[in-house]
Amino acid sequence: MSNSMWGGRFKSDTNALMQAINSSIDFDKNLYSQDIAQSIAHAKMLAHTKIISEQDKDDIIKGLNTIKQEIEQGQFKFSSALEDIHMNIEARLAELIGEAAGRLHTARSRNDQVATDFKLYTRDAIDMLVGQIKALQSALILRAEQEVQTIMPGFTHLQSAQPVSFAHHLLAYVEMLSRDYHRLLDARKRLNQCPLGCAALAGTSFPIDRYMVAEELGFTEPNANSLDGVADRDFILETLSAASICAMHLSRFAEELVIWSSAQFNFIELSDSFSTGSSIMPQKRNPDAAELVRAKIGRIMGAYTSIMMVMKGLPLTYSKDMQEDKELSFDALNNLSLSLEAMTGMVSDLSVNKEAMKQAAGAKFSTATDLADWLVREANVPFRDAHHITGKIVSLAESKELTLEQLELKDMQEIDKRINQSIFEVLSVENSVKSRTSYGGTAPKNISREISGWKRILKIS
Ligand code: ARG
Repeated sequence: MSNSMWGGRFKSDTNALMQAINSSIDFDKNLYSQDIAQSIAHAKMLAHTKIISEQDKDDIIKGLNTIKQEIEQGQFKFSSALEDIHMNIEARLAELIGEAAGRLHTARSRNDQVATDFKLYTRDAIDMLVGQIKALQSALILRAEQEVQTIMPGFTHLQSAQPVSFAHHLLAYVEMLSRDYHRLLDARKRLNQCPLGCAALAGTSFPIDRYMVAEELGFTEPNANSLDGVADRDFILETLSAASICAMHLSRFAEELVIWSSAQFNFIELSDSFSTGSSIMPQKRNPDAAELVRAKIGRIMGAYTSIMMVMKGLPLTYSKDMQEDKELSFDALNNLSLSLEAMTGMVSDLSVNKEAMKQAAGAKFSTATDLADWLVREANVPFRDAHHITGKIVSLAESKELTLEQLELKDMQEIDKRINQSIFEVLSVENSVKSRTSYGGTAPKNISREISGWKRILKIS
């Protein structure tokens, strides 16, 4: 019964509203190639198990290939009334080949179909991302090779702490990216079970061959429980979780590029291609690309938390809520890919101001630990006492406005008479860096060994 206040307009308005909230074609058209690939695999299996005829299979495959071409050439008319990519493709297939199109959906539902498409999409995205991570690692290694002897201040609390090699700093990111790489591949392993054939939720009475479809689509095996197959979205959550950690790493690196390229630091200059000018201040070069990479974690992590919220509390199996998983994921994965590529470009193009780095590395008594270590090693002073003696020497240097290296031997001897001339060997930043030969330390000979190892792994010659 229609409501007298608003019933007159109810019918047409709700139809339009329903379409607006229900239709997903604007974003799930991104799944067209995965959807067509799975339909081809499904049709082959249906013919193999004699559920459909060879002729129908051939017509279906031919029609699907035509649709693929139409989409890629921009000739396909997507319709919001047809809701999503699955129904858009099926409707067009019916126009192209007639009745046989209706047989394609035998033993399948949109629930297992969308889970399969989305898994294939996520798997493709992982394959692209791991390639891009390797490219960034390679750019870092090639850059590190030039910078083994470049000394910069290492920081804690963003306070100069101890001098390190710039290459060592870059290699820290290579390690972080390696964990990202393996996290993504690990997610890929668990993702790689095929949901197609779970049908709506309970499986099907047709004699399908799920192993055949799984193999055809590059999955390791079909998933074991039909309810789980259509209800599971762990695969995108795991991938977005790994993507968020990777984006967090890129954000930290981007922040360093922003700091290092400031006039106050002046450690690096980003190339023109990754900077912009100011519309009002002619002297400015803004590190926009780095700032945007720094920000991308927001939307990537945002996609992860949104989808986690969508999934929590959903009863088994499929609910339409799950349609909300795609738009944000596409955006997040695309933006991580873009960030990785922009970072690779920035690393390859930036120029390094070695002098400024070295000067900063020597500031703020950064070799004080080396002085304390000398007292321990050469004069058998317990480290705690050595720390105390060094503190006094640092405050002497501070009051005289000298670096540790510039202090006179006799002034240091007044504080502790066990100090002798050889102390000066450890006070330079070069010697400080060179002395850190412990496994994983910043000594150039460690770094060169690490670089060769990475070049073998990344197959860089
Ligand atoms: N467009 C839907 C999605 O993205 C496809 C699955 C629809 N299934 C259904 N039972 N209405 O989730």
